[in-house]
Amino acid sequence: MSTTLTPVLTANWDQANSFTLEGYGPYDAAKKALGMDPDAVIQAVKDSGLRGRGGAGFPTGMKWGFIPQGDGKPHYLVVNADESEPGTCKDIPLMMANPHSLVEGIIITSYAIRANHAFIYVRGEVLHVIRRLHAAVREAYEKGYLGKDLFGSGYDLELVVHSGAGAYICGEETALLDSLEGFRGQPRLKPPFPAVAGLYASPTVVNNVESVASVPSIIANGADWFASMGTEKSKGFGIFSLSGHVTRPGQYEAPLGITLRELLDMAGGIREGHQIKFWTPGGSSTPIFTDEHLDVPLDFEAVGAKGSMLGTRALQIFDETTCVVRTVLRWTEFYAHESCGKCTPCREGTYWLKQVLKRLEAGQGTEDDLSLITDIADNILGRSFCALGDGATSPIHSSVKYFRDEYLKHFEVGGCPFDHKKSTVWG
Ligand code: NAI
Ligand code: SF4
Repeated sequence: MSTTLTPVLTANWDQANSFTLEGYGPYDAAKKALGMDPDAVIQAVKDSGLRGRGGAGFPTGMKWGFIPQGDGKPHYLVVNADESEPGTCKDIPLMMANPHSLVEGIIITSYAIRANHAFIYVRGEVLHVIRRLHAAVREAYEKGYLGKDLFGSGYDLELVVHSGAGAYICGEETALLDSLEGFRGQPRLKPPFPAVAGLYASPTVVNNVESVASVPSIIANGADWFASMGTEKSKGFGIFSLSGHVTRPGQYEAPLGITLRELLDMAGGIREGHQIKFWTPGGSSTPIFTDEHLDVPLDFEAVGAKGSMLGTRALQIFDETTCVVRTVLRWTEFYAHESCGKCTPCREGTYWLKQVLKRLEAGQGTEDDLSLITDIADNILGRSFCALGDGATSPIHSSVKYFRDEYLKHFEVGGCPFDHKKSTVWG
């Protein structure tokens, strides 16, 4: 495990038994929460300033507060564990090393929103994580932390681990709900938001793994403790996943507002003898940054002000040996493959982006093709049914903005000017 500045979620990852109840310890925060009024639990999370860690950064306590009360309908908590954003690798290691923080967070969240059924929707490909979650849930049931009358409070909670079938779109919350209900996973029209009509048309909170796993520490240490970290509007800590041309890739837990330069100091810097060329602040769906952005505070506001998004804090780092055109082509192939096909701008647009980018990368394009890809991206952005289409345009617009000359170079020399073996990233 890597160095951390705020070791909370990652504190015991180095411990051999970190994933067991023995390694994690008793669910004291859940016990404390169940002795509180549910509204007081929601208020504590609102006061902490916790914002969704799945990428969008919506205030978590506010989302919980949207669940109507006294409506006579069942309420549900669905944990989005379908982590798939390219470069994002925080929820999967978190569930492997510390699954009980998630289970304890689920108890507290479900109690706060008055839900008696919760689900973890996890990516189907990660069998090792699915097994680990099943083991943690089983342990919690055996200990009486799940099931009937938790901690003698009279509160009941059933928790189901459900594995998806490996579609990126099922990380979109409404597609996830369709998939969980047994249908083909495709986004639903919003509003109504899941808080009003979610799973089986009942009020549902859909929260990311890391968001929920952060809740026990807020209840245990208080909202002020959490709010004392981070920046004014992006409070607390988060897990940053560093990958690519970095000396020690991995997960680094740090207060929001830390910069890439500071994170790289902890991660041993860029691989020896090389310089940073471009990077993503939050996965490939967020516009790329360059070396001029090393000191941008990694919080929702500062990253947004510089034209990108904090997203999932997936810092994919590329040095000067990497071809930006080839990288964007790879990401676009991903989006074209994962487009669910429901709406025309994304279904057709990502396909055409892929075709034109292939031509450009092979050095067979023209300057008109550069205008063509930005035009196609303009016609996807803001016209797609869900965020996948918009996300697919981020690498296009930002790479043309920062690396127009590199695109031009491809057709000047009639091929890719890079030796991909030197990059090692895309082969
Ligand atoms: P969004 O901003 O539409 O919604 C965020 C959350 O707030 C949702 O749960 C939504 O239901 C809720 N919400 C928003 N307005 C509401 C209202 N008026 N009433 C009630 N609830 C409301 O963002 P979305 O589409 O859910 O997520 C997009 C983000 O997902 C992107 O920023 C991207 O970074 C991230 N993402 C993460 C991936 C991962 O693997 N973790 C994969 C792909 C994208
Ligand atoms: Fe499906 Fe793409 Fe349209 Fe989203 S934007 S609904 S993924 S086709």
